[in-house]
Amino acid sequence: MASPVRWILWTTCVCFAARQKAALRVTMRESSLEVVRGDSVLLPCSFFTYSDFSRLNIIWTLAPFSSPDTPVQVIVYDHGQVIKNPSLIDRVDFTGLPFSADIMINDTRVSDGGIYRCMVNNPPDTADPGVGELLLSVLEPPSLPVCEWDGAIDMGGSVKLSCLVEQGVPTPEIRWEKLNPEEISLPINMEGELSGSVQIVNVSSQTSGLYRCSATNVLGTENCYVNLAVYNSEAPDSPSGILPGVLLTLVMSSVLLALLVLILWLHRTGQDGRRTRRGRKGEEEQCYNEIGYTPSLMKRSFV
Ligand SMILES: *[C@@H]1O[C@H](CO)[C@@H](O)[C@H](O)[C@H]1NC(C)=O
Ligand SMILES: *[C@@H]1O[C@H](CO)[C@@H](O)[C@H](O)[C@H]1NC(C)=O
Repeated sequence: MASPVRWILWTTCVCFAARQKAALRVTMRESSLEVVRGDSVLLPCSFFTYSDFSRLNIIWTLAPFSSPDTPVQVIVYDHGQVIKNPSLIDRVDFTGLPFSADIMINDTRVSDGGIYRCMVNNPPDTADPGVGELLLSVLEPPSLPVCEWDGAIDMGGSVKLSCLVEQGVPTPEIRWEKLNPEEISLPINMEGELSGSVQIVNVSSQTSGLYRCSATNVLGTENCYVNLAVYNSEAPDSPSGILPGVLLTLVMSSVLLALLVLILWLHRTGQDGRRTRRGRKGEEEQCYNEIGYTPSLMKRSFV
């Protein structure tokens, strides 16, 4: 009869003695985690307590990378109730209440990245330490970079090719290459972390070709291209007076030749003369059209 009572008394004493020394202890099973944007992630937070869970209180906060000095509450468990940050309401939840403080975040976004703190209190246990930290990085592949050009697209001119990538975690590395005739990488000027340009000086047929900007991080590579093409006439640098002069001479001699032929024909028969003259006039017009094509023509396009 008396022994069950004594047993209860004994256990109560043992528990009380243990509680005097006991403290709630939080352990993070990971100190940092990486997740690809859009995936789910479990943020682990374990604790051990000697008390029952009637006064258990858990608070998760996030100090985002974008504003580390202003932490926000993510999710709270208090008096048996779960309270979520409105911006995360359908993406975050506890997974093991009341025995663990683990939370799951679904459909992760880059803005979810930062330092998470898990704080657990379970009075009358003292907390030692009642808080744990973990760093969450949300990775994102580079977005499609935007290639642009600016400058003088004339012979001997200077063109600036720039490339801007808007997204990507970790920050994508930007590279510029000329792809043909052989692939060469070009010295790049960074303008901030997400934009890089190359300067092409002394534009000529040598600098024409396909240029590629690539944005690369651990999750992949995205490219944009600029095609810079210079089409020259056979003699690009000859003084402008000479070429038309030569062509004019050729035209003149063909006129003289035709006249000679005409005279010869007229000598033989007067009736065929008009037909011959018409054909000769056509030749002259073709020659003059060719002179019109001599200035170099330049073309550029985006792919
Ligand atoms: C997150 O996703 C898991 C698995 O799909 C699901 O069981 C859980 O309910 C989701 N959590 C929230 C808060 O929607
Ligand atoms: C520009 O290119 C032309 C032809 O390729 C070359 O003759 C000239 O020296 C170059 N000028 C400069 C400043 O590099």
